[in-house]
Amino acid sequence: MAAMMTMKMMTISPFPGHGRRPRPPSSSSSSVPGSTSTSISTSTTPTAAPPPQPIPGSHGWPVVGPMTDRLDYFWFQGPDEFFRKRMEKYGSAVFRTNVPPSFPFFSVGVNPNVVAVLDCKSFAHMFDAEVADKRDVLVGDFMPSVAFTGNVRTCAYLDTSEPKHGQIKKFAMDILKRSSKVWISELQSNLDEMWTTVEADLSSKGTASFFLPLQQCLFKFLTKSIVGADVSASPDIAKSGPTIIGAWLAFQLLPTVCINVAQPLEEIFLHTFPYPSFLVSGGYNKLADFIKSQGQEVVQLGVTQYGLSEDEVVHNLLFILGFNAFGGFSIFLPSLFGRLLSDKTGLQDRLRVEARENGGPNLTFDSVKQMPLVQSVVYETLRLSPPVPTQFARARKDFTLSSNDASYEIKKGELLCGFQPLVMRDPTVFDDPETFKPDRFVGEKGAELLNYLYWSNGPQSGSPSEHNKQCAGKDYVTLTAALIVAHMLRRYDSVGGEGLNITAPLEKAK
Ligand code: HEM
Repeated sequence: MAAMMTMKMMTISPFPGHGRRPRPPSSSSSSVPGSTSTSISTSTTPTAAPPPQPIPGSHGWPVVGPMTDRLDYFWFQGPDEFFRKRMEKYGSAVFRTNVPPSFPFFSVGVNPNVVAVLDCKSFAHMFDAEVADKRDVLVGDFMPSVAFTGNVRTCAYLDTSEPKHGQIKKFAMDILKRSSKVWISELQSNLDEMWTTVEADLSSKGTASFFLPLQQCLFKFLTKSIVGADVSASPDIAKSGPTIIGAWLAFQLLPTVCINVAQPLEEIFLHTFPYPSFLVSGGYNKLADFIKSQGQEVVQLGVTQYGLSEDEVVHNLLFILGFNAFGGFSIFLPSLFGRLLSDKTGLQDRLRVEARENGGPNLTFDSVKQMPLVQSVVYETLRLSPPVPTQFARARKDFTLSSNDASYEIKKGELLCGFQPLVMRDPTVFDDPETFKPDRFVGEKGAELLNYLYWSNGPQSGSPSEHNKQCAGKDYVTLTAALIVAHMLRRYDSVGGEGLNITAPLEKAK
């Protein structure tokens, strides 16, 4: 039986080195994460590390290799199968391949060659600022035109070695800290408004999607909290803001994302050339003007206390608001709601009991910290559905990269590419990795696993700073998601549906 289970695990898991948990990544930027072992050796003779191996895989013939990989990635396989199949083929979590965009119109200036890093240990090298250069690689070797962001290279594209990165990162963390005074009240009032709209739709149509009400809620809440600007001052912005941001995001990212519309149309029209910024500049400029006028206090803070120009502040604020915060939550929350609404295991009831019994009468950041199951469900959703699936870093110098299984020489300038949905299923770290386990992150064992939860481009146990590239909003994201869940469970005795559609009557709390 045990042998059968092992065989089954071996066929399910494409991971080599299965069964050995790597060391948690080091918080120090000077050491290579996972490069040393925590186990205490009783042997007096030091064991020599095995010599680095050649990296398996290849980039193929020029043009043909990138084109074939592009079609596999977007059309014949999809990103998940693309990485899984190659990991199985090479018997290695580290291998050479190509990722789109590529041939034909991206062939000049965009190099699709990457080294994929697909287990926790190899992926964690991308957090080490000594070896990982993050300059202009947010979405890979391809970078959307800076004309999308007012000709400003925003924080997410800056490397830690650029002084501007530290200035903007500190500014971003400061505005978040200041926003915590209004964060909870803004979130709750906008959530109440969202649910009232959903209830009205449900009673008139019998079913309700909360995609649009959720987008309106996020836009109003985040604009007030992060930028200090009240969208009710501009009904036009209040109405069109989410659509403007959606289009602005889409035109930047289309060449890199798989959206599963009819092929070959997707390949021909969406993945073949970069879209020009003028298609969305009208709406973008309207939002920038709105921030300049209604977010004056925050803009002035950036200019006077962080030494940034007004343009740098406004376009970074718009990027943080639209790309990082609105974009991130718009991907993450539907997967979280999707899990809860379609639950048939009794999880919703367990969460409801915790949300009502713990945390006091009013929801605060501290009260959700007293809800370990709610928090664990948030973490487990981030593990299985990381909102930003792909991350990149360029080797700053030659270095030795370790995976669970072997080590490899990486040359200066090579681009590392990590695909989180696979990394977060590394069986040497996560037991039964394909299964959604709501309690996975509860208790001491769960806390240890936070060292390996990487959705924020760093471990959940780490701290964002000007010296690293971890998401500035890391803790706000998880606490806010927990607050949104607790708010819903306190408001309703039962919420049922699929994805973002409520299909069963909402039973209000008695
Ligand atoms: C669910 C929501 C969010 C997700 C999934 C998310 C995810 C991420 C990820 C993956 C990165 C690293 C990108 C990379 O370099 O590869 C990042 C960076 C960043 N995020 Fe978030 N984020 C979210 C919300 C927020 C919020 C609310 C803020 C508000 C301040 C924020 C601010 C930033 C900033 C400033 C960076 C750049 C960090 C740097 O350059 O050092 N994010 N985010």
